[in-house]
Amino acid sequence: MTSTILVTGGTGTLGRRVTPLLLDAGFKVRLLSRSSHQSGDGIEYVTGDLLKGEGVDAAVDGAEIVLHLAGGPKGDDVATRNLAEAAARAGVRHLVYISVIGADRVPLAWLKSKLDAEKAIAESGVPWTTLRAAQFNELTFTMVEKMAKLPVTPAPGGLRLQPVDSRDVAARLVELVQGEPAGLVPDLAGPKVYGMVELVQGVLAAQGKRNRPKLPVRIPGKAGKAYRAGDNLTLDAPKGAHTWESFLADRQN
Ligand SMILES: NC(=O)c1ccc[n+]([C@@H]2O[C@H](COP(=O)([O-])OP(=O)(O)OC[C@H]3O[C@@H](n4cnc5c(N)ncnc54)[C@H](OP(=O)(O)O)[C@@H]3O)[C@@H](O)[C@H]2O)c1
Repeated sequence: MTSTILVTGGTGTLGRRVTPLLLDAGFKVRLLSRSSHQSGDGIEYVTGDLLKGEGVDAAVDGAEIVLHLAGGPKGDDVATRNLAEAAARAGVRHLVYISVIGADRVPLAWLKSKLDAEKAIAESGVPWTTLRAAQFNELTFTMVEKMAKLPVTPAPGGLRLQPVDSRDVAARLVELVQGEPAGLVPDLAGPKVYGMVELVQGVLAAQGKRNRPKLPVRIPGKAGKAYRAGDNLTLDAPKGAHTWESFLADRQN
């Protein structure tokens, strides 16, 4: 029998990668969005707002699996709790969540909100799986491209990133939704660790521009200490296949 999967965040960067893979895997896909969309091409759209708790019970009704990818700058804890409670009421059999590497280690408000969201999933009573991923290439690029426009390149000492391709994250999530609930699974990061200057220089090179002078900066506070300790990295887990360099090359084509 075909399983119905509710995908939250299906209209986002990651969700747009995941949805075609779910259709290929034979799922009946329902996407929740705050705006209305025309259903079609095998996708049923439902409207709702996880943060306001609107339309959530109707969205989960009849779904066997929920893949929760919706997220924003604030409120992921509240939004996730609303979804997890609705999933429990509806008897969902597997709740799968995407979180961020370092949610349990880097003391920043948005990461605390991701950690609280993880707890809401784990305490929901619904069998669950959570994958923590590194920063996606797309978001890394948005940040680094802005830095590449500056006359000098900020060089935050000790800050390293391990950008992962959203295609690799999407493929892993599709494996996870097809498996049994597994709790917190090994992190997924990109294949290589980069300093910020290296990332900026990669973008400048792809744009055919020369490197800029470096300006050493220090990230203050406990978060700075955590970043310098590499608490946002995962060095010993399976890695995504696509590199940052191949992502940059694809953007040029
Ligand atoms: N980007 C990264 O580098 C990264 C790294 C690791 C983990 N993650 C996690 O991966 C997830 C997806 O990230 P992304 O970059 O693909 O996000 P994105 O492109 O910013 O998309 C956000 C998605 O969340 C939905 N959404 C936001 N607020 C909502 C609400 N109140 N109710 C219902 N839906 C809501 C949006 O849907 P509508 O606008 O259609 O309503 C949209 O589909 C997030 O949980 C994020 O924390 C991201």
